[in-house]
Amino acid sequence: MTISEVNGLLYKPGHPRDRLEHALRITALSAGWHRSFEALLTQSVEGGKTTGNAGLTGMVYPAPAWRGFRQFRLLRKTFEADRVTSLTLEPADGNPLAGYLPGQFIVLRMQPRSAPLLLRSYSLSGRPNDKRFRVSIKRELQGAAGRYVNEELSEGDLVQASAPRGSFTLAPGDTPVVLLSAGIGVTPILGMLHALAADKSPREVWWLYGARNSHEHPFAKEVRELLGLLPHAHSHIRYSAPGPTDRQGVDYDAQGHLDPAVLQTVGLPVEGDFYLCGPSKFMSNLTAGLAGRGVSRRRIHTETFGSGPSITPGIAVSSGRPPHLPEGPQGTGASVTFARSGLNVRWNPRFHSLLELAEACDIPARWSCRTGVCHTCETGMISGSVTYQPSPIDEAADGNVLLCCSRPASDIVIDL
Ligand code: FES
Repeated sequence: MTISEVNGLLYKPGHPRDRLEHALRITALSAGWHRSFEALLTQSVEGGKTTGNAGLTGMVYPAPAWRGFRQFRLLRKTFEADRVTSLTLEPADGNPLAGYLPGQFIVLRMQPRSAPLLLRSYSLSGRPNDKRFRVSIKRELQGAAGRYVNEELSEGDLVQASAPRGSFTLAPGDTPVVLLSAGIGVTPILGMLHALAADKSPREVWWLYGARNSHEHPFAKEVRELLGLLPHAHSHIRYSAPGPTDRQGVDYDAQGHLDPAVLQTVGLPVEGDFYLCGPSKFMSNLTAGLAGRGVSRRRIHTETFGSGPSITPGIAVSSGRPPHLPEGPQGTGASVTFARSGLNVRWNPRFHSLLELAEACDIPARWSCRTGVCHTCETGMISGSVTYQPSPIDEAADGNVLLCCSRPASDIVIDL
């Protein structure tokens, strides 16, 4: 194969299987190229169940079950712990859901009586099924969404929800599964535990969770029951500030935070698959700790709340400011909602792309080529449509958008 063909095989649409297999036999290609072609080959073996370019993104994106938002009725509102409330939602039209993968999230569209429309992403915390969703929401001190959920939203009310999305999902296999979470980061991880328990999985399952104390420890009983259904389950709970009535050995196992030292203390299997979700310091400490213990990066799966850290080729430096409206005159065009960042902005044609708008709002965004080639900027588009200029070389996955070369063609909601 020529260098030109190898390049085209990755970046251009098509990716014929026989040529991928041929390229994988070229030992002169680096491990990175081999990984990309293996991802494309796996995607092609799946026979069109996923779209997009897995060789570039490293992800497979099942197409969302529906575009935009669907009407749901609030069936149940459940107090779980201090400032944490679960919402159980069922489709208002009574039709079944398409099911979802443990670890995925939805975006809720909520309209308070006397405040602007709210769009927020929440992980699905219940057992994956085709009848209802459960999300669990923590009320932040100044949070508009938490206030609306606690004070206004009542059982029987209608809200709108996107289809489940996200690639932070439990991978099949027979390796040990290590589920590590802290605070409200428990939600996607709990969805995974539900799936393992529903299958009575024979895999070794480790549950490690960190909270302040029992008042801020949601799902304690539910988790105990789920672990009880698994033949090879282990659990370790840490409280950083146990209350006077919290019992060591009953409510929690040890005092302190879940930190890299705990990985050694409890004897986690290095060959396992690790799923992490929690505050950013927790994530960075434990990710580094796992890598330091020899866990392969490919086995460490993480989910962050809010937008993820930006990746740039060293030109732009993140300001560290929280997301805000762009400086200067505001636009009057289509509404652009960054769902994870909780920011809504009117499009202004002075920006050349959605990526430029995100940067003007200090919303961390990933990019490399800025011309629709590398797919580094590929992001979920929950609703709406865009126009491209220039057109991408290969298309984004169904339901995603390439931010660097697109502008809104209608009101849009982006998973950023
Ligand atoms: S496709 Fe490369 S940054 Fe957008």
